[in-house]
Amino acid sequence: MSSKFGFLSRLYFLQDLVSLFISSIDPPIIHTLEKYLMLSKIFYYTANENIEGDYLEFGVFSGSSFSHAIRAYKKNRKYEKTASSTRFFGFDSFDGFGKIEKIDEHPFYEDSNFPTSYHKVCKRIKRFSGKFDITLVKGFFNETLQHSAAYYGIEKARIIFIDSDTYSAARDALNFCHPIIQLGTVIVFDELLTYKGRKDAGEAKAFNEFLKYTGIEVIEFGKYGIVGGGSI
Ligand SMILES: C[S@@+](CC[C@H](N)C(=O)[O-])C[C@H]1O[C@@H](n2cnc3c(N)ncnc32)[C@H](O)[C@@H]1O
Repeated sequence: MSSKFGFLSRLYFLQDLVSLFISSIDPPIIHTLEKYLMLSKIFYYTANENIEGDYLEFGVFSGSSFSHAIRAYKKNRKYEKTASSTRFFGFDSFDGFGKIEKIDEHPFYEDSNFPTSYHKVCKRIKRFSGKFDITLVKGFFNETLQHSAAYYGIEKARIIFIDSDTYSAARDALNFCHPIIQLGTVIVFDELLTYKGRKDAGEAKAFNEFLKYTGIEVIEFGKYGIVGGGSI
């Protein structure tokens, strides 16, 4: 009797080959690849939906997702009905987390896991300068985000990418973004499912509290990688 799953299901060597290949990839790499895919999809989506405004990233680290966002923007401009003038804002201490509050403690969130240098990131994104409007804001969020978005000249957010790991940092980023969120703004969290999936910890806590006190309603855009997720 022939298998319902067809001929391919009997090609064990092929299954082994695929498994060998997939198991050779480190999960953090899978997460990063899917993060890039997610950002590309969101730039395509926001181009198609004609969502104007700026790209804001909270937690830039070495500038890899920030650079990818600029490339994704460039690639998707052809889908825009009216040409956008999206600017790119990156916020980071470029010096780790600072003092970690009790509520933010997590085995992986330690400064030693995020060594970076503001000057290296500036150098890395220099190749985009002249063609794109880019601003890097250096400093801890409890200082730099004390200013309003208007202070930085930001009126509308197209995409908000929160990749700063902890509850406190996500809370500060969301409060800062409240006045610039418009219909269609996509908000992405790179660590939505950390802290064992608890809703009362991490970025999930910050997002839930934010939705509650602002009354903003969202629909899920999608999950990605190991712990990431986006909403519109
Ligand atoms: C996971 S890394 C960002 C990774 C980056 N988006 C990428 O994909 O290449 C987290 C970053 O958030 C920054 N960060 C965390 N808490 C912060 C805070 N309260 N103020 C400023 N920066 C903070 C750290 O310095 C670190 O560079």
